[in-house]
Amino acid sequence: MSKPTVAVVFGGRSSEHGVSCVTAGGVLGAIDRERWDVVAVGITREGRWTPASTDPADWRIVDGAMPTVAASDEVVVPPFEAGSRLWRVAGPDGLRELGEIDVVFPLLHGPWGEDGTIQGALELADVRYVGSGVLASAMGMDKQYMKTAFREAGLPVARDVVVSPHRGIEDQRLEIEALGLPVFVKPARAGSSMGISKVSSWSALEAAVADAQKHDPKVLIEAAVVGREVETAVLATAGGLLTSPAGEIITGGDHEFYDFEAKYLDEAAVTLLCPTTLEGAVAATVADYAKRAFRAVGAESLARVDVFVKPDGGVVVNEINTMPGFTPTSMYPRMAAAAGITYPELIETLLAVALDRPVGLR
Ligand SMILES: Nc1ncnc2c1ncn2[C@@H]1O[C@H](COP(=O)(O)OP(=O)(O)OP(=O)(O)O)[C@@H](O)[C@H]1O
Ligand SMILES: [Mg+2]
Repeated sequence: MSKPTVAVVFGGRSSEHGVSCVTAGGVLGAIDRERWDVVAVGITREGRWTPASTDPADWRIVDGAMPTVAASDEVVVPPFEAGSRLWRVAGPDGLRELGEIDVVFPLLHGPWGEDGTIQGALELADVRYVGSGVLASAMGMDKQYMKTAFREAGLPVARDVVVSPHRGIEDQRLEIEALGLPVFVKPARAGSSMGISKVSSWSALEAAVADAQKHDPKVLIEAAVVGREVETAVLATAGGLLTSPAGEIITGGDHEFYDFEAKYLDEAAVTLLCPTTLEGAVAATVADYAKRAFRAVGAESLARVDVFVKPDGGVVVNEINTMPGFTPTSMYPRMAAAAGITYPELIETLLAVALDRPVGLR
């Protein structure tokens, strides 16, 4: 009997290229090869799609160095034609077939992956894929519109002012200062805490905004929330939306917040607690907000919802990630494990749900 074919797509142009390759290693090692034929497509840092190894051993961290997708003279050519499932490879010797792809697992974080762009390309050919569709992915990437959707759903979020090329700091000075110090300055569409700074004096605001603008011309200036950083895994199954027990991130060392260095370079300074302990009513609110945030942006399959739990027990939603970190030791799989779902079971659920989904309007 023929098995469905899954294309695992990873690497990519974002700063999270290496993390994505490690994730691919984890996923390639856990997909049930009795149930699925597997094809691997690596995207180089420059954005070239290439045929890649399906051997998990090729995507391990070696001597502290992250794996990367190597340059290649072969290019994977996914179809753009509606209903076409045949993927090809163009190389120096012409075209060859890569295979008929039934479902794509895009293991990509950040821009050109988690933001609706690859989802749009796959929609053109009616290709099924794991994760959220175009609009939910784009909203999950754009903190301004993500928060608009959350507010509309009645979820508490931090107050903010948006600075854009059409509306600068000076146009909104009063509103900005009304936020009170400190504030967090963030690029609207970035990730991994890139370009984010905590500003504790108004004299440092211009420089912080300029720094964020290196990542995105649109920047959010946000009131700081004092609280614990708590996360929830949301998983769509045939039986409905599941929420996991909450996990918690405790950032120590000299990091004022969960910044880029703490996330990737100074892991010793960070403790991931999973599951964490929350008072019963707070745990219920966190789970409820996670589901409501998922629905507010129209997410599908999976998402990680990050909140702050204030000392008085109040919960403020920070963000939703539609393709959360997904290595076997990342928070999302760990939270799923706390809910009784193993890493291979998680992958099987995501692929099965994606394969079952009708193509077309979503
Ligand atoms: N309003 C805020 N109050 C307190 N701390 C904040 C606030 N906004 C951000 N932070 C801190 O900065 C970190 C990164 O912010 P945020 O999660 O918004 O961006 P990001 O992680 O880069 O986005 P993404 O997860 O989409 O990649 C948070 O984990 C938190 O430590
Ligand atoms: Mg975050």
